[in-house]
Amino acid sequence: MGGRYLVTGGAGFVGSHLVAALLDRGDEVVVLDNLSTGHRQAVLPGAKLVVADLDDAALIDGVLADGPWNAVFHFAALSIVGDSMREPFRYIADNVVTGVRLIDACVRHRVAKFVLSSTAALFGSTRSTPIDEATPFDPESPYGESKAMLERALYWADRVHGLRSACLRYFNAAGADPAGRLGEDHTPESHLVPLVIDAALGRRPDIAVFGADYPTLDGTCLRDYVHVADLADAHMRVLPQLDGGSVRYNLGNGRGHSVLEVIAAVERIGGRKVPVRMAARRPGDPAVLVAASGAIRDDTGWQPRLSGLDDIVRTAWHWRESHPDGYRTAAG
Ligand SMILES: NC(=O)c1ccc[n+]([C@@H]2O[C@H](COP(=O)([O-])OP(=O)(O)OC[C@H]3O[C@@H](n4cnc5c(N)ncnc54)[C@H](O)[C@@H]3O)[C@@H](O)[C@H]2O)c1
Repeated sequence: MGGRYLVTGGAGFVGSHLVAALLDRGDEVVVLDNLSTGHRQAVLPGAKLVVADLDDAALIDGVLADGPWNAVFHFAALSIVGDSMREPFRYIADNVVTGVRLIDACVRHRVAKFVLSSTAALFGSTRSTPIDEATPFDPESPYGESKAMLERALYWADRVHGLRSACLRYFNAAGADPAGRLGEDHTPESHLVPLVIDAALGRRPDIAVFGADYPTLDGTCLRDYVHVADLADAHMRVLPQLDGGSVRYNLGNGRGHSVLEVIAAVERIGGRKVPVRMAARRPGDPAVLVAASGAIRDDTGWQPRLSGLDDIVRTAWHWRESHPDGYRTAAG
């Protein structure tokens, strides 16, 4: 028999892919989302969508009271690093206050397992790579700080109340549902893969490459891209792990790809030239950001199945080409 799960932010990019994976294996899913950056069409039929803001404490309480829940997955968050530097208190209030209230409600309603979408932004830019779980927190933005605070809140929720949690620090989530049902649609878009694809499709004039003088093979920044379907798989694999205690895992492919490699992959798969504009470095961009994700592999048997850059670009290209206006295309 399948389980029953609550997914906050399940109408967003990463959350919608987990919802699809849970439905595919026969679980029951309730999505709670205010649709601020997510999309109604990203919630596949089969899941129940509750359109609500996490700020609505009474409503959250009502939803959680309607248990039992096998686990709560918490994706809902503001997540643009640059915005958080302009509006730190909005990020702290939205991400930390609502997140802590959700954790508290989970404790009161005896939810046994909680999975948090955490981030590589927990770590500072001077660390050595690949970044493992022993690396101390040193967030360089209120966004990263908000996730660090939630990880600490979960530590205490376990220690005091026994709520088991998994904090999954994603590096760069990318790609799209291999079955073509879901994709990435942020407004404005800030992620490299969809931006390069849009430049190839002529939907933006070019793609800016910020800095070509980094100490990397081709001089451009190296990032760890992990396929969103593999991320969904990791979320499901950590649940049994929580029977033995709370866990924190860094989640990536374990190898980096440069900005120019991503552009070359899009040109190769899309068969079109990408207009490129070289620009100055952006302050605060580290040269290399790669996860050491051996711990989750060893503990849960997780193995990225779509680990090649071409797998990521091919699925993302397919979705974007068939949905040039994102989910608005699907709505007709
Ligand atoms: N995309 C990445 O590469 C990446 C990397 C590291 C961490 N993360 C984390 O993963 C999570 C999901 O990221 P994403 O890229 O899918 O983002 P997203 O913006 O696509 O999804 C977030 C979802 O949460 C909803 N939401 C936001 N605030 C809400 C609120 N107050 N109440 C109810 N719903 C709310 C949005 O409408 C959206 O559907 C976030 O917590 C993010 O910090 C993402």
